[in-house]
Amino acid sequence: MKVRLLKTTMLAGLLLSGTVVSAATSSEAMQEYETALSLTPNLENGKRVYKICAVCHAPEGWGMENGAYPQIAGQLNTVIIKQLADIRARNRDNPTMRPFTTASLMGGTQELADVAAYIAKLPMTPYNGKGPGTDLELGARLYEENCTECHGKNGEGDREEHIPAIYGQHYHYLVRQFEWIKTGRRRNADSKMVKQIRRFRHRDVLAVMDYTSRLQPPAEKLAKDGWTNPDFPNFARKPAVGTGYQIDQRANRPPRPPIP
Ligand code: HEC
Ligand code: HEC
Repeated sequence: MKVRLLKTTMLAGLLLSGTVVSAATSSEAMQEYETALSLTPNLENGKRVYKICAVCHAPEGWGMENGAYPQIAGQLNTVIIKQLADIRARNRDNPTMRPFTTASLMGGTQELADVAAYIAKLPMTPYNGKGPGTDLELGARLYEENCTECHGKNGEGDREEHIPAIYGQHYHYLVRQFEWIKTGRRRNADSKMVKQIRRFRHRDVLAVMDYTSRLQPPAEKLAKDGWTNPDFPNFARKPAVGTGYQIDQRANRPPRPPIP
């Protein structure tokens, strides 16, 4: 009896502290988001800051076709700012990237606004990773019924509401995020979206993400074949089958994160 009571109290304490922490981090992130949006972005400085990001997301912002790194080029600036602020405030876990987003490495809120403006302007790859293409009818139906209201008919997202553009994104990244949103692992998930997708089976998830990965961004947002980012002329890139290129992870080792 006593043991059970103790356990219950400990559990309640844990839950409570969890809630307190997440509320604090999310309001800290929201504050940085608001401030960043009120600043005038400096693209030249954004380019300078982006050097840190290029090692993983590639100079073009295209990430990797296998979804290890997402495409961030062409994403809505409000979404980039919100995600960066969340990652900095530990409101979205990203242990790989977080060390590079600290004030000492990336800079302050002005740098956040600058780098977001720079990334939002980068043209997107026409060769994002796609799914197997075997269940697209189901995917289309699920998308129409569950996603258009927020992410738009073509996956273009919503700037005002910082809802991500999801067209042109790598399939494997989409699947990973969707699963993490569904299971609560992605803490900054939209609660209405979580509710909307709670009945999705594994097959539904794969089908709707396959369909989404095939939604084409408008032509003016796409890079021309063979385009590389002229701001990074000396970055090692190697040609890859079917795609523009893959970044050479060996030649461009990410800088060592500072010891926390
Ligand atoms: C060490 C590698 C690494 C570096 C350096 C890095 N990132 Fe990331 N980034 C990642 C990974 C991995 C993810 C996806 C994490 C996940 O799956 O949740 C990510 C996700 C993101 C996202 C979220 C994309 C989305 O669609 O939600 C944004 C925005 C982003 N990075 C911007 C940046 C910026 C800006 C910089 C430079 C200041 C940067 N990243 C540096 C690895 C990195
Ligand atoms: C009620 C609105 C809403 C609905 C419905 C909704 N989403 Fe979302 N979704 C969001 C918001 C808001 C975010 C970003 C949350 C955050 O991190 O701030 C998001 C994030 C995502 C992400 C992560 C994107 C990234 O770049 O990391 C994916 C993938 C996604 N949604 C796919 C879907 C799909 C597919 C559907 C339909 C099955 C769907 N969503 C339905 C609002 C919605």
